[in-house]
Amino acid sequence: MSIQEELTATIADLVQPDKGILAADESAPTIAKRFKAVGVESTEGTRREYRSLIFSTPDLGDHISGVILYEETLEQLSLDDIAIPKLLARQGIVPGIKVDAGKGPLVNSPGDEITYGLDGLESRLEHYKSLGARFAKWRDVFHISDTLPSFQAIKSNAEVLARYAAVCQAMGIVPIVEPEVLIDGNHSLERAAEVSEDVLLEVFKALHRHRVNLELMILKPSMVTPGKDAGKATPEQVAEATLSVFRRVVPAAVPGIVFLSGGQTPEESTENLNALNNMGYHPWELSFSYGRALQEPAQKAWAGKLANAQSTQAALKKRARLNGLARSGRYSS
Ligand code: 13P
Repeated sequence: MSIQEELTATIADLVQPDKGILAADESAPTIAKRFKAVGVESTEGTRREYRSLIFSTPDLGDHISGVILYEETLEQLSLDDIAIPKLLARQGIVPGIKVDAGKGPLVNSPGDEITYGLDGLESRLEHYKSLGARFAKWRDVFHISDTLPSFQAIKSNAEVLARYAAVCQAMGIVPIVEPEVLIDGNHSLERAAEVSEDVLLEVFKALHRHRVNLELMILKPSMVTPGKDAGKATPEQVAEATLSVFRRVVPAAVPGIVFLSGGQTPEESTENLNALNNMGYHPWELSFSYGRALQEPAQKAWAGKLANAQSTQAALKKRARLNGLARSGRYSS
């Protein structure tokens, strides 16, 4: 198979009706935080148990087309001693891998951050591919205040995101391009819309500069919402604001947009996705790539006990099914 054919096949497997992506690529510090919230200590063993459990959910592939893994999980065996990527492939699910190396302060731009991870990316991708990964994810973050993000932050993060995407495609790995505009703060819906438009515009300019094939990538953005300390907007307001921005700056060539949940509750994330799909014409498939919004109820049900396996899997299956409906605007609460 040529690289082009490989990328095309992966896009077809990932962007499917009634399905979205499960983001299970929490870094060690992040998963420790999530586990602590349900009274579980994060160890190699508990991470293996939990992740093995959720990936073994019967018929998970009905609503999940891909799973984003953290490096440790890609190399782990399930509780039945099956390599995790193989377990996912048996479920009809494409294994993917988070490849950025986290973020840190952007020098000379107080309050902004920059994502690391381009050094050695080719050889890491080669290794991940040999373990079964067919797509990758890289996350940039943008903080909102009256003055943030700076143009310097928008431009530099867009540049690294595009360079990552170009390297992935050259190696036959579908890039998920994730510019996350953070929900933290008390900014208005209008301010979030303004920042999202600036960010996405620069991201697509950079993708163009680096000759990234837009037909063979997936965009993973935030929905446009007010800051989490500013009060809620209705699903219709979120959908309207999000689509107005996206229609201006996201080319129709992009086959799939998979939203992150970014701190919305599981129910809000489903309602907002449903409203987005009911809001008139849009040229892209609008689906989900949720972390917390898919896993929170499952983590609560699990609480570190294998005896809770069935309720853990049922909780994940329920959110996956409801988001599968919202993905075509057929969800009702
Ligand atoms: P959330 O849905 O919890 O925001 O996670 C998605 C993700 O992959 C963040 O990088």
